[in-house]
Amino acid sequence: MKAWNESWKTEEGRAHWLEPDPFIVSLIPKFEKEEVEKVLDLGFGIGRHTILFAKKRFDVYGIDPSSSGLEFAMKWAQRERIILKLITGDMSQLPFKNNFFDLIIAWNVIYHGTAEIIHNTINEIMKCLKIGGYLLCTLISTKHNKYGIGKEIEKDTFVISEETEKSHPHHYFNKDEIAQYLKEFAPIICDDKEQFYPGLFHWYILTKLVSKSEGR
Ligand SMILES: C[S@@+](CC[C@H](N)C(=O)[O-])C[C@H]1O[C@@H](n2cnc3c(N)ncnc32)[C@H](O)[C@@H]1O
Repeated sequence: MKAWNESWKTEEGRAHWLEPDPFIVSLIPKFEKEEVEKVLDLGFGIGRHTILFAKKRFDVYGIDPSSSGLEFAMKWAQRERIILKLITGDMSQLPFKNNFFDLIIAWNVIYHGTAEIIHNTINEIMKCLKIGGYLLCTLISTKHNKYGIGKEIEKDTFVISEETEKSHPHHYFNKDEIAQYLKEFAPIICDDKEQFYPGLFHWYILTKLVSKSEGR
C-alpha cells in the first residue's frame, strides 16, 4: 500500500505508531500464562507490536506490503538486539503453513479492503491459526467519524480521493457483521472504543478460533 509505505519513511508519519497499544500490552500476561508461542503480526507497520512480543520471547513473524516499514522495523530490532522474521506480502495471501500460529495480531489492518479482500483475509487467518488460537484485531467501526465520507464503492466501504491512506478502500463494521465474518471464532472481547482521538471508533476484538470449515 503506497500511502503507508510513504508514511513510514518520515518521522511525522511514524509518530503515532511507535508505542504499543495499551490493550495489547495488557493481554501479554494472559498469552504468557497460556504458553502462546508462535505469533504473527499481520500488517506490522513499523513493528511496535512485533518488537514488543519478540522482547517477551514469543516466536514472532510479521508480514506487511510496505518495504519502508520493514526496513525501519529491522533497524529498530537491531538496536534492541533481537531478531525479527519479517517479510513483505499481502494479508489476503499468507505464505505460512496451515495451523502454524497460536496468535495472529492484525491491528488496524483488516478493514483496508473490499468485502472480497476481507473475506479472503479471514480465510487465510483461519488457515494459519491453530484451532484454539487467538485473533487479536481492530476493525474500524460504523460509529467512526469518517464513516460515510468519500465515495461508497460497496456497502459500508468508502474511498476518499486524496493522497493519504484514505485513498484506499476502508470498510466500516457493525457488530452483526463482525459476528458474521468471525462465525467460526468464539468472541472474548468485542468493544467499540475511540482510538487515538475522540470520534475515531474502532472495534477492539479478542477472539478464539473454535472450528474450521472443510478445506482450511
Ligand atoms: C494503520 S497501519 C497499522 C500498523 C501496525 N499494525 C500497528 O498497529 O502499528 C496499517 C498497516 O497495514 C498494512 N497493510 C495495508 N494493506 C495491507 C494488506 N493488504 N496486507 C497486509 N498489510 C496491509 C500497511 O502497510 C500498514 O503498515
